[in-house]
Parts: sequence; structure tokens; C-alpha cells
Amino acid sequence: MTTDPNRVLIFDTTLRDGEQSPGATMTHAEKLEIAQLLDEMGVDIIEAGFPIASEGDFRAVKEISERAQNATICGLARANFKDIDRAWEAVRPAKSPRIHTFIGTSPLHRAIPNLDMDQMAERIHDTVTHARNLCDNIQWSPMDATRTEWDYLCRVIEIAIKAGATTINIPDTVGYTAPGESADLIRRLIATVPGADEVVFATHCHNDLGMATANSLAAVEGGARQIECTINGLGERAGNTALEEVVMALRVRNDIMPYSTSIDTTKIMNISRRVATVSGFAVQFNKAIVGKNAFAHESGIHQDGMLKNAETFEIMRPADVGLSETSLVMGKHSGRAALRAKLKDLGLELADNQLNDVFVRFKDLADRKKEVYDEDIVALVRQNEGAE
Ligand code: KIV
Ligand code: ZN
Repeated sequence: MTTDPNRVLIFDTTLRDGEQSPGATMTHAEKLEIAQLLDEMGVDIIEAGFPIASEGDFRAVKEISERAQNATICGLARANFKDIDRAWEAVRPAKSPRIHTFIGTSPLHRAIPNLDMDQMAERIHDTVTHARNLCDNIQWSPMDATRTEWDYLCRVIEIAIKAGATTINIPDTVGYTAPGESADLIRRLIATVPGADEVVFATHCHNDLGMATANSLAAVEGGARQIECTINGLGERAGNTALEEVVMALRVRNDIMPYSTSIDTTKIMNISRRVATVSGFAVQFNKAIVGKNAFAHESGIHQDGMLKNAETFEIMRPADVGLSETSLVMGKHSGRAALRAKLKDLGLELADNQLNDVFVRFKDLADRKKEVYDEDIVALVRQNEGAE
């Protein structure tokens, strides 16, 4: 894929982990549309679904595999031959197919299939070997890795690598880890497990404590070179790592995190809106990067600063994420400079004394109304002209 040691692969799982959030189900056509947008924006790997889960999931993964132009297409499978065969059948038409197989390795997760440590180790060996006999691009995940005993985690990762896994994903399934621990875990695994330097380590974080983005970036510092994420952070419970956050963080703070991705960031806003619409999960107003207020300013001091130099209060240009412009929201915190700029935008040039009068009327209205719209401002100017 790439030989640049600082290139971070973006693995998007909006269509698998994202779609698993209760209520976020997408139609077949919607899945194809989102997959195409992900492919066009430069995502390296698209996890298109869980083919054994339903006939619909299988069809979606297969059709996405047939259509994708650039991305590797991945299908999820539990640690059994039937799941793996079905995933292979679905991703096989892709130009670049991948099977992702997983099993829960922590004590709590081992209790579910009722396997002891040796039996689980054997299952991992057999299933990864089986998958590798079908496909030469195999991702393996020890689910709940961050709550798995250290020695056992090293042991099963070594088995998976020897059986042919090419990517080892370290899931923080319940959003339990913290940044220092996340970096340290990946760093120690790479230093300890035989064969670790021959595979890509991935990080897959959930946001239960609001640390998914920080944990993913820390994992990269520790040596992970694949981040698993979703658009808008869609995902079970509090969601997954948000693609737009990690990608923009690596771009804006490249001075201290010198890693690159292949994402065309100008496509972020459009795909964010499409995912919000088709999943029915609205984006919170103050969400980083893609929230309605992420590039909006209302306070007088901020608006004045923005009008003089946008960098005063913005660390990214709206155009970098596909927004045409910053929005100066007119409300009770807005100052005279913003009102003057807004009037100019509306084609209204007022003398200073007129501006002062309209500003008094504007403040009075803004105290009664959450947001003052362009039409309100035009009406205030007309009223003022009538009163003169
Ligand atoms: O969160 C998780 O552990 C997962 C695995 C299937 C990788 O989504
Ligand atoms: Zn997950």
C-alpha cells in the first residue's frame, strides 16, 4: 500500500460498526452511496458490513466490492469458518479484498463461548489460517484487547501473526483506555510480540469516556499505522472515533504529529451531512469539525477578530473541510463591526449615525430573539429609515 513510515491508513467502519448503533440502519441504496463517497474521499479501507449478519448485509458488501475504485473492501467475520467463508464470498469481487476476523479475548469475553485460554488460542490459529488460505489480506482483532491480560494478549497476537494475519487491530471495545495507556500498549506490543514488525498495528476506539480521538492519536504515537473510525463518530453507545476529528487533528497539528493520511478533507462536510441524513443521527451543533457551530461566531469580540483576521479564532479554514465560509451569527453578543459587515453583505452601506440607530434597534431585537436573521436586519434598516 505505502512505504512511508509516517503514513496512517484510514479504515472507515461507518457501514459496519456505525450502522450497528441502534436506529442507524441504512437502506441498500444509502450504503452504496456512502461507500462511493468514502471511496472518493480517499479512505484506504472500507469495512462495508458483516456479511453473515443478514442477506441484506451480504448483498451490500458484495455490491460495494464490485463497485469500489480505490479502497480496499473489508468484511467482518467471527472466529468460525462459516462466517469467514461468507465474508470472503462477499469481498472477493473487490480489486483489493480483506477479511476481518475477531474474537473476544478478555476474561469477560472468553466466558461467552466458554473457551479456556488454550482452546481459544487454538480457535484463533485455525480461523486465521483458514482465512489466510482464502485471501492474502487478513485483519485480526482480539476484541476487548484493552481489558485482556498482557501475557495472553501477546500470546494470541503472536499466534495470529504466525497464522498469516497482516493487520493486527487492537480494539478498545468499551472505550475504557486513556491516551497514555493507549500509546504504551501499542508501543509495548510492537516491541514484545515476535513478528510484530511485519504487520500493521491498528487502533479501534470507542468513545464511552469521550476519549476515542485522543486514544487513537496516542496509539499512532505508539506505532499504530491504521486508525479505525466512522463519519460523525457514529457507532454503538457513545460511538467510535470520528474520522473527521483524527484526520483534521493530524493535518492541523502536523508540527507535533508528523503523520499523513490520504483523505481529501474538502469532502468531509458533504459526507458528514449525508451520513447524518441517511442514519437519522443528527450532528450535535458543537461537534468538532462538522457541527453547525464549528465555524460560527456570535460574540462581538470574536466576530470583530474574525473580520480583521480569520486566524484569530479559527485554526482551520472552512474551505479545508468543504464549507464555503465562516458564519457570523447575528445575536445579542454581536458587536457593531459585525453588524456593519453584515449590512455590507446585504448591500446596505449606512452612515455612522444611521448605523448607531440601527445597532440600538438590533440589540433590542436580539435580546428578545435567539438569532437575528438577514430579513430581520433589513426590516430594522427600513424601520429606521421610516423613523428619520
Ligand atoms: O469494538 C470492537 O471490538 C469491534 C470489533 C469487532 C473489532 O468493533
Ligand atoms: Zn467497535
